[in-house]
Amino acid sequence: MIKVNCLNPIAACGLDLLTDNYEKTEDFAEANAVLVRSAAMHDLELSDNLAAVARAGAGVNNIPLDKCAEKGIVVFNTPGANANGVKELVVAGLMLASRDIKGGMNWVDENKDNANIGKDMEKAKKAFAGKEIQGKKLGVIGLGAIGVLVANVATHLGMEVIGCDPFLSVQHALQLSRNVKVVKTNEEVYKECDYITVHVPALDSTKGMINKDMIAMMKDGAIVLNFARDVLVNDDDMVAALESGKVAKYITDIPTAKIANAKNVVAFPHLGASTAESEDNCAVMAVNELRDFFENGNIKNSVNYPACDAGVCESASRVAICHKNVPNMLTQFTAAYSADGINIDNFVNKSRGDFAYSIIDASAASDAIVEKLNAIDGVLKVRVVK
Ligand code: MLT
Repeated sequence: MIKVNCLNPIAACGLDLLTDNYEKTEDFAEANAVLVRSAAMHDLELSDNLAAVARAGAGVNNIPLDKCAEKGIVVFNTPGANANGVKELVVAGLMLASRDIKGGMNWVDENKDNANIGKDMEKAKKAFAGKEIQGKKLGVIGLGAIGVLVANVATHLGMEVIGCDPFLSVQHALQLSRNVKVVKTNEEVYKECDYITVHVPALDSTKGMINKDMIAMMKDGAIVLNFARDVLVNDDDMVAALESGKVAKYITDIPTAKIANAKNVVAFPHLGASTAESEDNCAVMAVNELRDFFENGNIKNSVNYPACDAGVCESASRVAICHKNVPNMLTQFTAAYSADGINIDNFVNKSRGDFAYSIIDASAASDAIVEKLNAIDGVLKVRVVK
């Protein structure tokens, strides 16, 4: 029985996919698998029972990826599953940045008891006039699942769109509209665009990427949108730019206290993926990833281990091993089998940075073999899939 702990509420349509081989547990320490949305896992004690963490979402900055990898815990995310939800909120952000919708709505609210509201609003409305986005230039930094959707939809709204992503995948390049011009550097985006939207993960290399030097390159009155992670933007530099008017508006889905108090900010409480559809898509994808991992040993969409696919498990025995990516591991694995006189039918090995993953199909895997595998220096976790 595989014990699954949910650290956050996970949509029922995903959990319903768990078969009788899975059991929900409230106890994190006894869980073999964890489903998580935004709960912070950095300070949690990771037990030896834990083999997999699936994040129902794209960002994984709430999960200690390296610590998990060292313990042979495979971490998955669900790239693209909530991309449409985020894209739609970015579109709302573009509109809210351009038209004083909030000011206008506030005026109506303040005047709801005014019998002459119909007449008075015609005088009041000039205070809430805005600009149209058609014909304006949008720069998209990060052309992953969300960035591509944002770039494409903006072309349909009549915007001129440029995008930048040094790691643009073939899959995302194929999805990108031909009307989006891909540029080589973020600097081109900062210098040329009326609207700049960032869709990159929070990494050491991206933290504080929107800072005073980058802002200095922007057009006066540029509008910046951040629906990715708060740490991408240097708060002090952004507040100064909003004060001076260098940045006309900052639209964000992840406000810090400093940003929430700054002027010309439009902020939401991390609502991008908070739609029924996104929550369902993420839950279904996360549970399917876990099931393929526990039932077949396969890894798809991991953020700390390599993708590894040995297909549906049809052999008599399958063993999956998380291990260090160092020399002589595979020889030792095969030796453990041959010492027991067992022939290996199929062997898949993939590596990613310091870590690697092997799936071994054979006619059997005795306790002695599993014990030998576990004793090999550099082996982090051995799992008998079948
Ligand atoms: C994500 O990382 O997928 C989004 O920020 C949405 C979320 O965290 O739920």
